[in-house]
Amino acid sequence: MRILAFESSCDETSVAILDGDEIKANLISSQDFHTLYGGVVPELSSRAHIQRINPLLKNALEISGFTLQDIDIVAATAGPGLIGALMIGLIYAKGLAFSTGKKFIPVNHIEGHTFSGFLMEQKPRFPFLCLMVSGGHSLLFFVESTTKIQLLGTTIDDAVGEAFDKVAKLLGLGYPGGPSIQRYALSGKKGVYHFPKANVQGKYDFSFSGLKTSVLRQVQKLKTHNPLLAEEQKSDIAFAFQDSAVSALIDKTKLAIRDYHPASITLVGGVAANAALRKAFFELGNTFSIPSIIPRIEYCGDNAAMIAYRAKTLAEAGLKYGFDYEAFPSFTSQFLTA
Ligand code: KG4
Ligand code: ZN
Repeated sequence: MRILAFESSCDETSVAILDGDEIKANLISSQDFHTLYGGVVPELSSRAHIQRINPLLKNALEISGFTLQDIDIVAATAGPGLIGALMIGLIYAKGLAFSTGKKFIPVNHIEGHTFSGFLMEQKPRFPFLCLMVSGGHSLLFFVESTTKIQLLGTTIDDAVGEAFDKVAKLLGLGYPGGPSIQRYALSGKKGVYHFPKANVQGKYDFSFSGLKTSVLRQVQKLKTHNPLLAEEQKSDIAFAFQDSAVSALIDKTKLAIRDYHPASITLVGGVAANAALRKAFFELGNTFSIPSIIPRIEYCGDNAAMIAYRAKTLAEAGLKYGFDYEAFPSFTSQFLTA
């Protein structure tokens, strides 16, 4: 089975080709210019997808050595995401499938991330716990099979990636915040600042808005003495913030491991690129003697390889979707029970 997949839900345009179990191409074009505006500008994102999608498809076909005739299924992210951005990849893919007579599969973006651990050599084993952390989501799933996914917990306010981005902005570190917080935290000292973890009612739920507010208060306090933060202060704050965010995520995953006894655990989504979180997640697996699977960095952020893989699992499960299928944005609810 050969799948050509498109991802355009936010600020990455991506095209991938999956041949059986092998990713033959996974091209990702990131729209770095959003840094100028401190966040993603939806209209500019849509325009960039339009400019980039066709050359990316040509390159992906060239790299894989396939032509469109060799492709069996066309897939695209159908939601959730920025509607204007999504529409570019979705309509482009549908048009391509329709005009070449291929089957078309719409894929839920979150499900794409959830199964991205399967892109690694060591695959997750069912049932597995999946911690999905990105700019828009902080979700904990118990995944029993490719079509049985149970949502255990979610954030009651900000997503963890959003908190990284907002704290980076407070510290004047630019967008996206995750990578710069990680960089500053590297030289930060432990114990200079302490930001408490939130107490959340839902057993597996998260909250990151209080953490962000404590950072804000600390920054305001420091700025009354000197309006410009020293690099050392930024590093120490970044360290304390990252430490608190990581331990909140790990604590809830630990609770779920105790209750659900998964065969493996997986960490996915853009924030899964964070080195401190990856280390803590591997250690967590070791503590419980279960494999922890974390995708390579290129499969953590938004990418079409994970969309191709999810489409493959849906096709193998015999799920049939026509061109008119309304996949946006509640597609996940078909599989998820709270
Ligand atoms: O999955 P993703 O690429 O897009 C969404 O679907 O949201 O995730 C993007 C998020 C951003 O908030 C970004 O700051 C965060 O992932 N991120 C990181 C790191 N790299 C990206 N957060 C923490 N540490 C990183 N190294
Ligand atoms: Zn994503």
